Amino acid sequence: MSTTGTGDTILVIGAGGQLGFELTHELRQLYGASNVVAADVRLPKHPELADAGPFVQLDVLDKAGLGAVMQRYKPKQVYHLAALLSATAEKNPKFGWELNMDGLFNVLDAAVEHGTGRIYWPSSIAVFGPNTPRDNTPQYTVMDPGTIYGISKQAGELWLDWYYRKHGLDVRSLRYPGLIGYKSLPGGGTTDYAVDIYHHAVHGLPYQCFLQEDTYLPMMYMPDALKATLDLMHAPAEQIKIRTSYNLGAMSFSPREITQSIQQHIPDFEVTYQPDSRQQIADSWPKSIDDSRARQDWGWTPQFDLGAMTADMLKHLQEEPQYLAPLTAEAK
Ligand code: SER
Repeated sequence: MSTTGTGDTILVIGAGGQLGFELTHELRQLYGASNVVAADVRLPKHPELADAGPFVQLDVLDKAGLGAVMQRYKPKQVYHLAALLSATAEKNPKFGWELNMDGLFNVLDAAVEHGTGRIYWPSSIAVFGPNTPRDNTPQYTVMDPGTIYGISKQAGELWLDWYYRKHGLDVRSLRYPGLIGYKSLPGGGTTDYAVDIYHHAVHGLPYQCFLQEDTYLPMMYMPDALKATLDLMHAPAEQIKIRTSYNLGAMSFSPREITQSIQQHIPDFEVTYQPDSRQQIADSWPKSIDDSRARQDWGWTPQFDLGAMTADMLKHLQEEPQYLAPLTAEAK
């Protein structure tokens, strides 16, 4: 909170998305609801987003529209979260590239023009590829992403560093693992199974998993992702030594292990396995992440492991059914 005192404005682009929805809520708690402007290309699924504070409908590819929002609110911080995720971008590669890259350029250029203090942009474990060491993947290593999403994130990271060096823009970024939360659903990612599985379990439905049971991927519970993002954004600039993007880790598990952790609470929960094209993407990503630079530079430590996350996810989905995805027995 060091740079944005009371009255300063924050803009969250992609506020209706899985991360954006929860991050907007958290920022509004911290900075005051009226100081956090939620922007999304779609009208909000959860009315809370527009009811609790300012909301603007904005397509980040609309440069003039973005300029008008920047002019109107003069945000001191911008969180740019709008993107197509890995599986969706593979189905629509040209649009995935356009949204993920041109959207980023529009935000970076607008930030330079309007003198925005701090910019946040998420990267991902998708920046790594089949020739990257998969266990405890280091910060600096082979990066040969095979998905359009991963290529756009890797290129984006390098552009962030360039804008930092050439324009002095205070850009900050994290390579998120798969994110899991109960309040908002992901869309079109390879790690989405780890959210969908909880919704099926709470509905009392079996789950058909699109990854093999022994596929390990790095994952993180949403409260840890929010904490990491805010810790990074609140750290003094001199502590941010990496201006591409920081490796970030919390836990690593397979579909079999998350199933077993759910079965400790719901013993008759059943999972079957039918891998699809997302298996190939998962096989090219790390199994676990070395995030020692984030720990050293700005004090990162996660709070949740698989057992703690499962207990919390199930409790919230059972007690707050408004967040439960509407599923039927036919739904996969
Ligand atoms: N969760 C994302 C995806 O699966 C990775 O960043 O696409």
